[in-house]
Amino acid sequence: MSNPQFTEVSQNFWEDIWKEQQIGFHRDHVDLLLEKHIDKLINGRQRIKIFVPLCGKSVDMKWLWDQGHTIIGVESVRSAVEEFFKEQSIKYTVSDLPDIGGSVFTSEDERMKLYCCDLFKFNSKLEGGMNAVWDRGSIVAINRDERQRYAELLTSLLSPDCRYLLDTLEYDETKYPGPPFYLSEQEIHNLFGDKLSITRLDRIDIFEEAFKPWGIESLHEKLFLMTVK
Ligand SMILES: C[S@@+](CC[C@H](N)C(=O)[O-])C[C@H]1O[C@@H](n2cnc3c(N)ncnc32)[C@H](O)[C@@H]1O
Repeated sequence: MSNPQFTEVSQNFWEDIWKEQQIGFHRDHVDLLLEKHIDKLINGRQRIKIFVPLCGKSVDMKWLWDQGHTIIGVESVRSAVEEFFKEQSIKYTVSDLPDIGGSVFTSEDERMKLYCCDLFKFNSKLEGGMNAVWDRGSIVAINRDERQRYAELLTSLLSPDCRYLLDTLEYDETKYPGPPFYLSEQEIHNLFGDKLSITRLDRIDIFEEAFKPWGIESLHEKLFLMTVK
């Protein structure tokens, strides 16, 4: 196993993952913690704008869209975005965005907009004022040295009423280097704590046989609610 200190992901890594369909992170059902705590994200609001960074082809987006909300996703691998619209039977149009070297896939009702580009090229001029964020497999999927930049970008996109659900994984990082990368509670506070209030909502055991090759003996999914101070 490689040294935990030196594990890095790249755009080529993600392109290969999707090409070879090694998408163990993808679920064909709505995330259990999202479903359990959806009221904390929505907070009684209707037709809100929900940001899903590093969205893949998450079925969570369809579930939230079906509830009348607008979904803004960002995903760098084009085939993932195409698979999402095809599998969910949503008709779409594609527009090129040469300024950011990407494109945007928009549903007919314009409530599902998935930007196909590098997250770090995305900015509030394209889409801002997010009323909610669903962050699963996102901050934990980027390199550790990009976390500060990630936190700065994400916080620049939020509306004052934003409710941000951050989903992370807890395991012994000396045994498995990631991805997904371990993110401690202290680091969440260091990254977001000056702009956002942070509450831990849940922690569940998600260990199963399939994780044994990682060399770990326990795995927990943790959920945090962050709101703008
Ligand atoms: C671990 S997957 C999680 C996908 C989704 N959030 C889910 O829960 O199924 C991370 C996704 O982020 C995409 N990705 C990685 N780095 C990216 C970047 N810098 N900009 C945009 N997308 C990126 C990958 O292609 C991959 O689909």
